[in-house]
Amino acid sequence: MTTQQYIDQHRERFLEELKTLIRIPSISTAREHDKDTHHCAVQVQEYLVRAGLERAELYPTDGHPIVYAEKIVDEKAPTVLIYGHYDVQPADPLDEWETPPFEPTVKKTAQHPDGAVFARGATDDKGQMFIHVKAVEAMIQTDSLPCNVKFMIEGEEEIGSPNLVPFIKEHKDKLKADVILVSDTSLLSKSHPSITVGLRGLTYLDVKVRSARADMHSGLFGGAVANPINVLCDMIASLKDEDKHITIPGFYDDVHFPSERDRTLMREAPFNEQEYMDSPGVFGLEGEKGFTTYERTGILPTLDVNGIWGGFTGEGSKTVIPAVANAKISMRLVSRQDHEKITKLFSDHFKSIAPPTVKVDVIPHHGGNPYVTPTDTPEYKAAEAAMEKTFGNTPVPMYEGGSIPIVAQFKEVLQIETILMGFGFDTDGLHSPNEHFGLWNFYKGIETVPEFFAAYAARKF
Ligand code: BES
Ligand code: MN
Ligand code: MN
Repeated sequence: MTTQQYIDQHRERFLEELKTLIRIPSISTAREHDKDTHHCAVQVQEYLVRAGLERAELYPTDGHPIVYAEKIVDEKAPTVLIYGHYDVQPADPLDEWETPPFEPTVKKTAQHPDGAVFARGATDDKGQMFIHVKAVEAMIQTDSLPCNVKFMIEGEEEIGSPNLVPFIKEHKDKLKADVILVSDTSLLSKSHPSITVGLRGLTYLDVKVRSARADMHSGLFGGAVANPINVLCDMIASLKDEDKHITIPGFYDDVHFPSERDRTLMREAPFNEQEYMDSPGVFGLEGEKGFTTYERTGILPTLDVNGIWGGFTGEGSKTVIPAVANAKISMRLVSRQDHEKITKLFSDHFKSIAPPTVKVDVIPHHGGNPYVTPTDTPEYKAAEAAMEKTFGNTPVPMYEGGSIPIVAQFKEVLQIETILMGFGFDTDGLHSPNEHFGLWNFYKGIETVPEFFAAYAARKF
């Protein structure tokens, strides 16, 4: 039996198994779901064993466990390390879901006429990660696995992978591989595949502006003291100029744009701006002057307020000048920007623009560096060849807006490059209500992965 025949024969079961995985609410950030998250890791391990992998193990960490498994077919064959995550984002706001977030339901949509599984984690990343489990199963069960394969599936991607960095530092030998393969990014369209060649980095921090020891009567003090919320708003507003260019000195120093060839390919890519707008229902688009929408999310950094609070927000009114204002600010980074350096630039600048009537604290959270995949390599060429075969078109190299901070660490710590071959759409509602993953996308992924293995073995062996 060929690998493709095996896939065709087991389509229904593959989907049922994916649904089983999706039913487990493995929300990594929620303590009350720690048991579920652990259960999900065990389920992934079990599927890896059933697929025919060996040395399948759960590595405990200070947080959620890491699932590892491998199949070594030949010491001289190249090794592909597959990375993915079994944890998901919280499902709230719950009342915006048309079907419950952890009851996978297949429904047809305009973009998914063959149906899509609706559930939290369907595309990010359970469906995409499971593509690899099933593709490798199909290769093992038909005796056609041409490369060694290792799986490393973590449960903390959505909270910044705090325990994966120590894990990879500790297990460099075990994780030895020629390439890392990840499906946790997006596909341009069904007719025009893409390979993600740029991931943004991230720095995330809290800022606190304080003007007094305690809240004050706004009649007795209003007009004569600094209102920290007003001050915070002024400070935040000054971080961008009228062209939406970020004003922090030195912020763009390490930003290098892709080659003209890559920029042209991206510009010519059939990006559907209307679909992009429709999926969250935005009223309009805006961004840094002189760049297209795709460039704004792919090759430019950002600075955004994720949340802002302070003062009186209860029912009714209370005449008060608050003593404190807070905001959560994140910056997506590109190219050679370094998250620690940017955090320092931000922090120094933010403190320097504060008026003398307030005290400013900047508290950094997790961060990660951007990553760019080199394209003149056997692994990129193999990914290109695989997608050409199953999609009938050459994939476009795309710079994407999201972040998978561990990927830069793979390069730094393990010295291995990563191929980001995603099969979901940007419009699949990742992190949003009614997240879904197309069945077409799921099966296309399972068909494409064995082609990658074959093409890679042919180039590297
Ligand atoms: N899979 C996403 C990242 C992604 C999605 C990249 C689509 C490119 C296209 C990942 O699970 C994610 O959500 N990452 C977080 C990272 C953060 C929690 C450290 C992000 O980008 O916000
Ligand atoms: Mn993901
Ligand atoms: Mn995510």
